[in-house]
Amino acid sequence: MPTFQTPRGTSDILPSDQPYWKLVSSTVESLAQRYGYRRIDTPIFEDTGLFVRGVGQSTDIVEKEMYSFMTKGGDALTLRPEATASFCRAYLQHGMQNLPQPVKLFTVGPFFRHDRPGAGRYRQFHQVNFECIGEADPAVDAEVIQLAWELYATLGLRDLSVLLNSIGCPNCRPAYLDALRQYYAPLVEELCRECQARLERNPLRLLDCKNPTCQALSSKAPRSVDFLCEACADHFSRLGTYLGLLGVPFEVSHRLVRGLDYYTRTVFEVIPPDATSQGTIGGGGRYDGLIEQIGGPATPGIGFASGVERVILNLRNQGIAALPIGKTLLYIAPIGETAREFALPLLKRARQDGIPTVIGLGSRSLKSQLKQASSQQVPFVAIIGEEEIGTNEVTLRDLRTGEQKKISVQLLGPAVREMLAGPGGPQP
Ligand code: HAM
Repeated sequence: MPTFQTPRGTSDILPSDQPYWKLVSSTVESLAQRYGYRRIDTPIFEDTGLFVRGVGQSTDIVEKEMYSFMTKGGDALTLRPEATASFCRAYLQHGMQNLPQPVKLFTVGPFFRHDRPGAGRYRQFHQVNFECIGEADPAVDAEVIQLAWELYATLGLRDLSVLLNSIGCPNCRPAYLDALRQYYAPLVEELCRECQARLERNPLRLLDCKNPTCQALSSKAPRSVDFLCEACADHFSRLGTYLGLLGVPFEVSHRLVRGLDYYTRTVFEVIPPDATSQGTIGGGGRYDGLIEQIGGPATPGIGFASGVERVILNLRNQGIAALPIGKTLLYIAPIGETAREFALPLLKRARQDGIPTVIGLGSRSLKSQLKQASSQQVPFVAIIGEEEIGTNEVTLRDLRTGEQKKISVQLLGPAVREMLAGPGGPQP
């Protein structure tokens, strides 16, 4: 065992992991461009007060998870545990309220929470963040949720669910919080210690406690949607309609409240099929009071963040390969001139499918082409002879395992991706 290891809850991103990181960041960049989001990078540390006021005094993040320190000059700073408060600080600091609204910003980078490390839970982790600031229309909520959905769909993730709720606004929420306190008051002895402590200060959080007894009690608790004022109810109902029109499937979850204090109205989470073992893949919501909370004018906003490590964990669990960077994956080996004419459109198509591909040149024999592919460490060879031309197929050989199979020319790209995710695994 070496003397020094990565600190608990942190990890090295090794060369063999990089293709996944590149896949996520390039997908985020291209989505951001299509949805009109511009990149911003804020400092890794900020004034501690920003998070205390922005994220909220009674949240797990502020109560237990911040890496806070005093500088030699006496400044109280904190490694950023999330991005939304920093985006809002930057919006105010740079006068972005004078730009055409809404202002749409995104970032990708490291964040820090002194959480108990576990599967998909780290102390230094990475998030992609999208924030749309300056617009209250529920069409914006729908667009942000659609963006989140499209991010995962583009990466190829399957079987995810979107959970949605509205937790109201400062007008209607007090009545709901009272109803929760009244509901829980006679049950207080049955609650876990943390919930007992939270009941007075932040009763919303009792709804997402993971303790089985607390969960059983919260299933019968009053629902926030039954206490919404007219404006919040209208916002929520229009959001549902818009999501339907955009084809984003969702489920209303009455227990969804999220763990940060700044949320108003819309809250949502995207969860993988086995969410209990690794947690939410992404989440967000509206924060119409946050900018005021940190000293600015009343300004609405909504956003979303997803943990990059959790996205990659789910990609791996679902057998989705990220193509290795800078490596040729496919060698097309035509036998003879007719086969070469048959092969050229396949070469073009494989490259268009994003698979780095080369073709055997000159009048090399099959044996010599296989030897060349092998010496260049290309993992797959598509062999094309008379027989394959006759059936409109190629023989796809995995040089790593020696296995081969005939596949239709239309399926060449997907077959290479599938084999890459298979037992041979992606090659660094
Ligand atoms: P959050 O739910 O605290 O929200 O975090 C968003 C995502 O970051 C989570 O769904 C998860 O994928 C990832 N994440 C959080 N903590 C960890 C951890 N310890 N280890 C690994 N991944 C983690 C926010 O941060 C809000 N700022 C989201 C938002 C943006 N709301 C509005 N705009």
